[in-house]
Amino acid sequence: MDINAISQVLNALHLPAVFVDHDDRIALCNPEALGLFGAGAVGRHYAAILRQPLIIDAIETVQRGNGATRARYLGTQGPAETVWMASAAPLMAAGQPGVLISFEDRTAAQEADEMRRDFVANVSHELRTPLTALNGFIETLRGAAKDDADARERFLGIMAHEATRMNRLVQDLLSLSRVESEERMRPKARISLSDVLNSAIVSLTPLAEQRGVSVTVEGAADLPIVVGDGDQLRQVFQNLIENAVKYGGDGKSVVVRAGPIARDPSLRSAAVKIDVIDQGIGINPLHIPRLTERFYRVDSHRAREMGGTGLGLAIVKHILNRHRGRLRIESEPGEGSTFSVLLPVNGD
Ligand SMILES: Nc1ncnc2c1ncn2[C@@H]1O[C@H](COP(=O)(O)OP(=O)(O)O)[C@@H](O)[C@H]1O
Ligand SMILES: [Mg+2]
Repeated sequence: MDINAISQVLNALHLPAVFVDHDDRIALCNPEALGLFGAGAVGRHYAAILRQPLIIDAIETVQRGNGATRARYLGTQGPAETVWMASAAPLMAAGQPGVLISFEDRTAAQEADEMRRDFVANVSHELRTPLTALNGFIETLRGAAKDDADARERFLGIMAHEATRMNRLVQDLLSLSRVESEERMRPKARISLSDVLNSAIVSLTPLAEQRGVSVTVEGAADLPIVVGDGDQLRQVFQNLIENAVKYGGDGKSVVVRAGPIARDPSLRSAAVKIDVIDQGIGINPLHIPRLTERFYRVDSHRAREMGGTGLGLAIVKHILNRHRGRLRIESEPGEGSTFSVLLPVNGD
């Protein structure tokens, strides 16, 4: 092929690609590659532009006649680091040997890998804390506290508490994985939201009574029917109302206010909006965008004391995605928070 033909092929590619000639110069750069290496790359020695040992080795390997090869390349242009898989292959240009290198963007795949690793590390960490406590108490009960009936009672109480915490974590992990695996399946049942709200509130009555919190519902009587998964929607409101009770402050009140909306611009359909309103300490706006991340807690010590796993809002977000709904969080530190759920009505 002559150099013009190669240039045309490079320009037709949507991946960044460069051609290194027999003089070790970057002879051609397509527009995507210019974005990656900058406008001054053409005509320079490839090692001056590519700079990373892995990709330089790969090009040398091809030049020595050992066939096509691949190497990882880190993009440092732009605000965030990008990860590329570079493929180097021999290509003759006007009778002279050269090397064609194309770059495939692996950033998203790399990020998914990292998220998986972080998740496993988080889960292990969350389980290790109660396990360490349990082991410590078992040891004490076998040794120092062997014949101390009072200590035994007290330690068994703490052990039961830790075991409950582990159990809750495992339950939440299971529901998260179930919700994720169903996320692409549209729910089909016709659901009465007032039944869903009432059943969520009934299940939280013991917790609310224990904390002296009153939970009242407004406007739930004549809501339109929504298409959804009843168990999952109940879980959404259970998680939100539980948070409002837990973080809303003892002796305060929680209001669940529901109402139809003729047309919501972000859903582009009629909708039902359910606000869960508390009068608690509120949330610093800095934290709000991250609340639905797994294991994210504003005050992790305090949240853990309250038996939180940090997974509740992550589960809420996944369930609402499946229902093509939205979660909005508004909070005034010191005044309280409002978590609003929007669900489409006749959502197609
Ligand atoms: N109503 C609320 N008021 C103040 N902070 C809240 C409220 N709801 C949630 N949060 C904060 O968001 C974090 C994440 O909530 P969630 O995912 O339900 O986890 P947790 O298991 O800790 O309840 C909580 O740890 C808490 O810091
Ligand atoms: Mg919670």
